[in-house]
Amino acid sequence: MKEDAQDIPPCFVPVEKTGLFATFRTDNWWIQPLIMGSILIGFGIYTIFVLMLEHGTIGDHKGELIYYEDKGAHYISPISSPGPNAVPDYIKELWILPVSLLFIWAPLGFRATCYYGRRVYYRALFANPIAVAVDKPIKSYSGENSFPFILQNAHRYFLYLAILLAILHIYHAIESFTFGDKFGIGVGSLLLTIDALFLSLYVCSCHSLRNLMGGNIDCLSCANYIKKKGTSWVSYLNQFHGTYFWISLISIMLADFYIRIYLGMWGNPEIFLLEP
Ligand code: FES
Repeated sequence: MKEDAQDIPPCFVPVEKTGLFATFRTDNWWIQPLIMGSILIGFGIYTIFVLMLEHGTIGDHKGELIYYEDKGAHYISPISSPGPNAVPDYIKELWILPVSLLFIWAPLGFRATCYYGRRVYYRALFANPIAVAVDKPIKSYSGENSFPFILQNAHRYFLYLAILLAILHIYHAIESFTFGDKFGIGVGSLLLTIDALFLSLYVCSCHSLRNLMGGNIDCLSCANYIKKKGTSWVSYLNQFHGTYFWISLISIMLADFYIRIYLGMWGNPEIFLLEP
C-alpha cells in the first residue's frame, strides 16, 4: 500500500485522487490498458501499411498481394476481403484509391462501434478513464449524446454488414483448402480458418445481435419464454465477446501478414503444405 494511503482514517476511504493518472490503487492497473492500446495501435499501423502497399505509396506492389495463387492456392489477404475481383471494372477505373478502402470501412466501423471495443479504446487510447479510480485528463463527460460519439448508435446497422463479412470469410476459408481443383491443407488454409471461426464467434456474440434475437426488446425479463430461448446461444457466446474481439483481431492480422507479406511480398514458400 502507498504511504499516503496509510494516513487515511479507516472510516473514510476515498476512491479518487486528483492529478494526471493519480490513484490510490496499488495494483498494476496500467498493464491492461497498455497491452490493449499497443495491440490496437499495432493493428492500426498494419492496416495503414497494407493500404499504402496496395496504393503503391510503399514499394512497387500497386494493386497486388491481395490474392495468392502459387501452386494453385486460393488464398486472399483477409483484410482486403473480398478484394478487387468483387468490384466491377468501371468502378475500378474511376476509383483512384486502394480498392480495399471500398470494403474496409465496414469491419472497421463494426469494431469501432462495438460495445466492448468502445470500452477498450475509451480506456486504452483516450484514457477517459484509463482505469477505475484513476484520475483522467479530460474531466467533462457528455456520454455518447453528441457528435461524433452519437454515431456509435450505428452499430446495429454495421452488424448486418458484419454478418455478410463473416459469411465471406467462411467462404474464403473453405476455398483455401482447394489447390488447383484438389483438396489440400496449407498454413494459409489453417490461418484463414481460424480467422473465419473467430470472426464468426465475434459477430455471433454481438450485443446488438442478442437484442435482435430477443425481438428488439431492451428488457429481457419482459420477453416471453420463446424470445428468451431465442437468445440463449447468443447470450452464452456473449459472455466471451471480449475474448473473441481480441482473438479475431489478432488472427486476421496474422493471416493477412502470412499471405500478403510472408508468402506474397517476401516470396517465401508455404511453411507446410499437404497435397494429395
Ligand atoms: S457489441 Fe461488440 S460486435 Fe456488437
